Amino acid sequence: MIGEGINRIDGPLKVTGRAVYSYERQDAGQPLYGCIQGASIGKGRIASIDTSAAEAAPGVRLVWTHRNAPEQQPFENKPDLFGRPHPELTGDSIAYYGQPVAFVVADSFEQASAAAALVRVDFEAEQGAYDLDASLAQKKWWETIDAGGESRFGDVDKAMAQGPVTVEATYSTPYHFSHPIELPACLAVWKDGHLTVYVAAQMVNQFRSGLAATLKLDRKSITVDSAFVGGGFGSKLFLHAETVLASLAARALDKPVKVMLTRRQVFTMVGHRPAVISHIRLAATPDGQLTAIGHDANMQSFGPEPWSEPVEAVARSLYAAPNRLTRQTKTDLDVRAGEAVRAPGELPGLLVFESAMDELAEKLGMDPVELRIKNDTDIDPELNLPLSGRRLADCLREGAARFGWDQRPITPASRREGQWLIGYGVASAMRAHYQGPTEVKLRITADGRVVVFSDMTDIGTGTYTIAAQVAASGLGVPVSQVSVELARTDYPASQGSGGSWGASNTSVAIDRACQALREQIAGVAGTGYNDLFAEVRRHFPQGLEASGKTLSSGKDPNYQNFSQYTYGASFAEVGVDADTGEVRLRRMLGVFAAGRIINPKTARSQLLGGMIWGISAALHEGAYVDPRHGSWVNGDLAEYVIPVHADIPDIEAIMLYDHDEHANHLGIKGIGELGACGTGGCVANAVYNATGVRVRDFPITLGKLLPGLPAVA
Ligand code: MOS
Repeated sequence: MIGEGINRIDGPLKVTGRAVYSYERQDAGQPLYGCIQGASIGKGRIASIDTSAAEAAPGVRLVWTHRNAPEQQPFENKPDLFGRPHPELTGDSIAYYGQPVAFVVADSFEQASAAAALVRVDFEAEQGAYDLDASLAQKKWWETIDAGGESRFGDVDKAMAQGPVTVEATYSTPYHFSHPIELPACLAVWKDGHLTVYVAAQMVNQFRSGLAATLKLDRKSITVDSAFVGGGFGSKLFLHAETVLASLAARALDKPVKVMLTRRQVFTMVGHRPAVISHIRLAATPDGQLTAIGHDANMQSFGPEPWSEPVEAVARSLYAAPNRLTRQTKTDLDVRAGEAVRAPGELPGLLVFESAMDELAEKLGMDPVELRIKNDTDIDPELNLPLSGRRLADCLREGAARFGWDQRPITPASRREGQWLIGYGVASAMRAHYQGPTEVKLRITADGRVVVFSDMTDIGTGTYTIAAQVAASGLGVPVSQVSVELARTDYPASQGSGGSWGASNTSVAIDRACQALREQIAGVAGTGYNDLFAEVRRHFPQGLEASGKTLSSGKDPNYQNFSQYTYGASFAEVGVDADTGEVRLRRMLGVFAAGRIINPKTARSQLLGGMIWGISAALHEGAYVDPRHGSWVNGDLAEYVIPVHADIPDIEAIMLYDHDEHANHLGIKGIGELGACGTGGCVANAVYNATGVRVRDFPITLGKLLPGLPAVA
């Protein structure tokens, strides 16, 4: 039932291997296998291409390049990011490193891979622009941002000049990739003019729109099935080459075709979080009241397909100040377009903004927890609307008490245990809460089961389980009598899993469907019945169905009258090796207020996962572009550093009791990305507290700390 930390209902399927992921589907008959080859230059054109050896290789069924690939709808930069076409192999010009240039289908995976390697492509390379830092050097780029990308209240320049206490600093955050365990994969099957794609997708209905646009098909002639998805993190929101090419080849060959990207291809064929340079300004009175907040962001972009994330937006609503200016601009590089990656906007935004708040606390000589509480607000400063469920200060106070914040070293680099310099850090978290149109269908069968149907996905987050809990609660039946059918475009459309909105959207719709079912039953049995299934058997021998809907934020009055976010505060203790600069996280606590929690076990697991990504952003992760060729220097999981078990000590996530009635009648908000918000900042601030060295270029690697470490006593 709602609020119970039950085990995942799909857990047994997963641990026994019976949860079948798209690439593992066996039910479509013997498939062919596709392999994509990508460009080995970052900018230029294909001078010549020789496919003869690949075509003659054993088992090869098809070799496509831009010269013979089927016609597709040309790319158009439409505002609907999901519905726009994503054609492949469309011409001889190369716009980014790794762009698909050839596609081979063969009888086996090995034959396809071997033949793809035989496609000979000669490129004419041009020098591209690959370096964000270089393009921004030697100028105050923030002064030239045009008004289109800004939000301005009062006069930040004047407030900064008046001070008296100010911080002005430039921070940088690198490219990030999502990298779920399950690689992007598609099995495409055509039958009687209908295409079914078994694919790893977070939002199947929206994914179908993009595929239909690309292939110039009616949406109705495509079914998308993503029954099990092995992680998404944003990387499975949009259509990619494996699905487009598998679908086209399956049609051309009249056989099922499977394509899975390699781990290295995820770096070139799936978008990243763009690298960002942030310029932050803060001004405060001597007692710590903020008078000015400024955040200017300059972000890598790809001209033909612009993408940005709202890195500067957290500065608009996290704290109040009379003078505020947030601006964003993009710098076009010859680097593939970005995409959504784990808390777009908030993750890098809070990492740098909460670092700047720490710098301000130090200049003020003020406890960083107190500084944050002092600048708390009940009114969204940007929208002038009440903030619903604003429990930021509660999270900070509760976390400080549980963590033992009063034990923190007040002076940086003042505590030492043997070789370790010890530091504590704190940061606030805030994540936008959205609601999107969702419909679900519930069926009560005459043989005593409840079945939930929705095209909502479970990307590893626990949707199957919470959907069953909400339906069980709504109908007063045990969870064991509920089945959940998800992630097929045949089912009623949802907003899928993205933006942390899946749980609340789906739960609200399910609960409304339960209400409708109860009303139908009460209509014939009265309200006093005590066995739902007996009444259904008696009065509805064919079973009973009802739908439930969740409105979009735009149509729900609560979303016009309240500004809706989720909140948190995180606390970290680190040790930094005084000789080598090695940073070890020693412990961490996150305290979150994110509405009513449907399942504390799956929720805690999600929050801990998010916190680990926060730690990763502070200390580990970053992808680097070779400024000569535009390739990813560390484009594999051997060199793209992420935390491993040894990097993560005992960390804990606490959820404060919460019920946000302004979000929806169940009080539920999103939690998926909240754990990743702010947690990087608390680690970064702990590193500063340990060492007295402020690293503003993330991640904080030991080479950046070493030059500033205190001399060994
Ligand atoms: Mo999320 S980065 O919208 O999957």
